[in-house]
Amino acid sequence: MPKRRKRDFIIRGFSKLLKEDKLKIVAELMDNQLEAVDLMKSFWHSDQSKQKIFDEFSENTISNFYIPYGVAPNVVVNDTNYLVPMTIEESSVVAAASSSARFWSEHGGFKAKVIDTEKVGQVHFQWKGDKKKLHEVFDQMKHQFRRATTSITANMESRGGGITEFYLIDKFTEIPDYYQIKIVFDTVDSMGANFINSCLEEFALTLKDFFQTHPIFEDEERDCTIIMSILSNYTPRCLAEVYVECPYEELDGLDNELTGEEFARKFELAVKVAEIDVYRATTHNKGIFNGIDAVAIATGNDFRAIEAAGHAYASKDGKYSSLTEVELKDGRFKYTLRIPLAMGTVGGLTSLHPLAKYSLEMLGNPSARELMMIAAALGLANNFAAVRSLVTKGIQIGHMKMHLMNILNHFNTTEDEKAKAVDYFIGHKVSFSTVERFIKNLRKEA
Ligand code: MEV
Repeated sequence: MPKRRKRDFIIRGFSKLLKEDKLKIVAELMDNQLEAVDLMKSFWHSDQSKQKIFDEFSENTISNFYIPYGVAPNVVVNDTNYLVPMTIEESSVVAAASSSARFWSEHGGFKAKVIDTEKVGQVHFQWKGDKKKLHEVFDQMKHQFRRATTSITANMESRGGGITEFYLIDKFTEIPDYYQIKIVFDTVDSMGANFINSCLEEFALTLKDFFQTHPIFEDEERDCTIIMSILSNYTPRCLAEVYVECPYEELDGLDNELTGEEFARKFELAVKVAEIDVYRATTHNKGIFNGIDAVAIATGNDFRAIEAAGHAYASKDGKYSSLTEVELKDGRFKYTLRIPLAMGTVGGLTSLHPLAKYSLEMLGNPSARELMMIAAALGLANNFAAVRSLVTKGIQIGHMKMHLMNILNHFNTTEDEKAKAVDYFIGHKVSFSTVERFIKNLRKEA
């Protein structure tokens, strides 16, 4: 049994210990300490300089956690055929994306565009004073904000980005004396989190100073409380749109029992359920993020930020709903995904993580806009594959087929046993118990 520690057992200075010593402390929690240390070390990179990169990404790194890195071929976006890197542990996601991408590659491909790439930051503050005066001098304040950040923005401006606009917003009805300055940024090909946050902290200092020194304010108006300065991960105007489209007849054959038109109508119904029911909408959207997160991780992007924005956007009309929509018109099936995707192709992990760099090269070193469209296409590909299975043969046949290897590995099967199992389960239903029975019988016979 693992040894749990009492709450009063505080480890001091853990982060300053050597990696080996941290590992020993962690191993004390395990039954077999030597085995635990060996296991953790077995996942260290054999090249020390590479391991150092991973050690330095984060604090208290004691090992690496492997997740498969796969590729989905034939992802045709705006007539360009991409081989898309995907990092994901769920067995069926790459297979689903690949089969969907293959199907659409023969039916016009994914048509994508970027609607906008706006990023947003906020300085939140409380101030007791004459609101009219604040609005009167806001232009001067903006000017000072820009001046205070010239050294930070110079590089971004030379790449075509920078600060786009400032808005003064008051929210007194919700919190007394509460204002925010909302700042819009263009961060070009970078995700831009550090750039935005550095600017915002500078704006906060400038704001305080502005109240202190501007002659328009009375003495009792000179103090303001900066609550916080931080970018917003809600990026409803950093938006990509992607769709697939074909006549009903081209959907013939996607199911043995449904005609193309019947399939399209059942598919539409399933998406309508996701539009009105939050339980289904959450799972429906999760299927979209299967593809998007996998691309985000493989390219060193912040998938938590992307997920947060996507789910908030799914609630933009006051009720959480599907991120996709179906249109059936004039004998054609059209399926669209619109999703905020704050992605970058320069800076951050994109150039530091050796595989993220490689992923971007595999995609032809795309701009952020291009990557947004590719990721959106993968989101739609995975979602299409999931809904297609759900309204036809069900999800478990494909899922359990892909999961078969995991179950076989659980029973420590040999290569020979695996080959026999794969053969047998082509015609039989995969479940944990059917695989267990098969392996037991095989071993009994042997
Ligand atoms: C599983 O990872 C994702 C699905 O549940 C998505 C969906 O239900 O649409 C298959």
